[in-house]
Amino acid sequence: MAHDLAAHPGIRNRGWAHRALMNNKQFSAIRRKLERAATKVMKNAHAPYSNFRVGAAVLLTNGDIFLGCNVENASYGMTNCAERTAIFSAVAQLGPKIEIRAVAVTNDHGVACSPCGACRQVIYEFGQNAMIFFQGADGPKQAQIADLLPEGFRIQ
Ligand code: THU
Repeated sequence: MAHDLAAHPGIRNRGWAHRALMNNKQFSAIRRKLERAATKVMKNAHAPYSNFRVGAAVLLTNGDIFLGCNVENASYGMTNCAERTAIFSAVAQLGPKIEIRAVAVTNDHGVACSPCGACRQVIYEFGQNAMIFFQGADGPKQAQIADLLPEGFRIQ
């Protein structure tokens, strides 16, 4: 499920990548790498209730990539989304000083799927400038977390 970012209308909205003087080709390569990783880990999902497998790849500012899938439960509300699985794994491995640079989310139905509200807040906790790559209603999309979660909650 790799998508050429150059074909995407949001190409100008590159956030940190623009500040880092990253060109479109480099940016697309990162996006594709994250999408491929998310699609691979998606296969590990435990999703017998929804039958909807989701994968997430989280790129940190130190260059590390952490992966996660959704893990459902017979008590449905205990379900953990792919994005939070990946982020919690990063914190467990590296501690709380991680900073998220980008998150890619993919699903096995090839349908629109942006991070849920809870995951947006968790992404925001560790990356107020994070870029999110996901499947929108009309194809691949990218958006900055602050646009997906206006006025995200912080305790200073
Ligand atoms: N899900 C995710 O893992 N991430 C998302 O961004 C959207 C939803 C999962 C939760 C549940 O296991 C399944 O997708 C159906 O909602």
